[in-house]
Amino acid sequence: MTQADSGLVAVYPGSFDPLTNGHLDLVQRCVPLVSKLVVAVLANDTKAPLFSLDERVQMLKEVLSVYPNVEVDSFNGLLVDYARRKGARLLLRGIRAISDYEYELQMALMNRRLAPEIETMFMMAGEAHSFISSRLVKEVIRLGGNISGLVPPSVEEMLRRRLLAPGG
Ligand code: PNS
Repeated sequence: MTQADSGLVAVYPGSFDPLTNGHLDLVQRCVPLVSKLVVAVLANDTKAPLFSLDERVQMLKEVLSVYPNVEVDSFNGLLVDYARRKGARLLLRGIRAISDYEYELQMALMNRRLAPEIETMFMMAGEAHSFISSRLVKEVIRLGGNISGLVPPSVEEMLRRRLLAPGG
């Protein structure tokens, strides 16, 4: 499916440490609905990420380059300020289970208070992806489990090199 001609720009923010097939599923489903989707990696994260900001931006660019209306970027500071700079009227977030809801509701309401003109759109994770999280993927591969089908092959390779290489 091609992109919509609505002029609508959406920002899909996150840590993406690493990108999973759950994130990818959301991107794929959002792409036809908007004119442009900016996938934006949070730069000033308080969590210590496994992959550097550059590595995460690169992994996203590699996998998402097939979508002409997807831009990969990073941002600092308030998400709504960044969205305004990008001309975005929509923030995209995924919800997997009810446990995601509280955190997402809080963020959406805070963002609405800060920027009433920007709407948060939630998409339910696809059934096949609702159990996937970046945190669990890292834990499973670290402990020797099979993560194929949970992340794109290029990300699996990066995880193997980072977590399973001798001395890694
Ligand atoms: O993938 P994550 O870690 O759940 O993404 C969280 C993210 C990046 C969406 C959130 O931490 C964020 O928007 N940070 C930017 C700072 C900000 O705007 N905070 C106030 C909004 S509630």
